[in-house]
Amino acid sequence: MEFKRVRDLKISVLGQGTWQGSMKGWGKDYSENDFIESVKKSIELGVNFFDTAEIYGNGYSEKLLGKAISGYNREDLIIATKLAPFNIKNWEKHLDRSLKNLNTKYIDIYQLHWPTPFYLNFNKYLKEMENAIKNGKIRYIGVSNFYLKDIEKLEVDIISNQIKYNILKKQLNDNEIEILTRKNIFVIGYSPLEMGLLSGKYNIKEKPKGYLRKRIPYLKGENFRKFNEIMTFLKDLSNKYGYSLTQISLKYCIMKNVVPIYGSKNGKQSEDNALSINVPLKPEDVNKIDELVYSMHLKNLDEDWSKLARNLPLFIQKLTLKYFI
Ligand SMILES: NC(=O)c1ccc[n+]([C@@H]2O[C@H](COP(=O)([O-])OP(=O)(O)OC[C@H]3O[C@@H](n4cnc5c(N)ncnc54)[C@H](OP(=O)(O)O)[C@@H]3O)[C@@H](O)[C@H]2O)c1
Repeated sequence: MEFKRVRDLKISVLGQGTWQGSMKGWGKDYSENDFIESVKKSIELGVNFFDTAEIYGNGYSEKLLGKAISGYNREDLIIATKLAPFNIKNWEKHLDRSLKNLNTKYIDIYQLHWPTPFYLNFNKYLKEMENAIKNGKIRYIGVSNFYLKDIEKLEVDIISNQIKYNILKKQLNDNEIEILTRKNIFVIGYSPLEMGLLSGKYNIKEKPKGYLRKRIPYLKGENFRKFNEIMTFLKDLSNKYGYSLTQISLKYCIMKNVVPIYGSKNGKQSEDNALSINVPLKPEDVNKIDELVYSMHLKNLDEDWSKLARNLPLFIQKLTLKYFI
């Protein structure tokens, strides 16, 4: 495994996200044990960074992740979880709940899952959270789904911004990522496989399983033709280098100075994903991918759930997201 140094963290250049541990909405083709195996396999291959959230299965993902890592030395791992904005006023209670779910004394990166609506200033609560750093319950504060204009409003020091980042869709561009890096904020990339689509196993007839992936915009009409063209190019790279499509996609993110957090349902997927660091992808390949995707003008690319979610009143966010995700 390769590692990068971020402040005093030595973090693997890719990590695992554990939304799949909610055991909801991702299909029924895997078990809790499969999921636990997926985490163990990642650790075995040197991945030390794991991300979860209190809303994934309403704490279930945190609990399964806690179970999966229980046999390992806690200090060797970097654990991140996320606070839902609709719980921000009671963040202390929710932090304690996450600590309990994860069965850990501290969380390395405690992230605000998305910005609060305009009528609630997140700084008040993030500043309070600095006390949790002092008393050792968290090591760093992070944010997620923040655009640069949101970052500019911050009055606390944050270590990371977790954004959607993959070959097809990016919440921040190269230049914006560079700006964050200069501010000593590292970028974590979620959905690096576009929820499984970049594995190449899905098409108009073969759709992904589970309700969470019902609305993926690339498997429809004209978009699908363009998506196919991109996949053909990626398949050529996959054949040329002898690595899978998921491995090409993850290495692409790593080369963009983003720490991708892949979701896995079992040990086999984690093995494939973790070994992506070995892909000898070249900067010119990355440029060609970017040029091709740019020229395709895929539709619905500006569809961003976090933009919609942040504009909803908090009680509606709670009603719609707490039980669905
Ligand atoms: N901060 C946020 O707002 C936010 C939002 C979304 C996600 N996240 C985080 O990011 C993590 C990853 O994103 P994601 O879960 O949305 O999607 P992802 O990593 O893009 O895709 C994960 C899915 O791809 C398929 N897959 C994974 N490895 C594979 C392999 N080697 N070969 C073939 N198929 C493979 C699996 O589903 P199938 O086998 O069923 O296809 C898996 O469930 C989440 O777990 C979560 O921690 C954060």
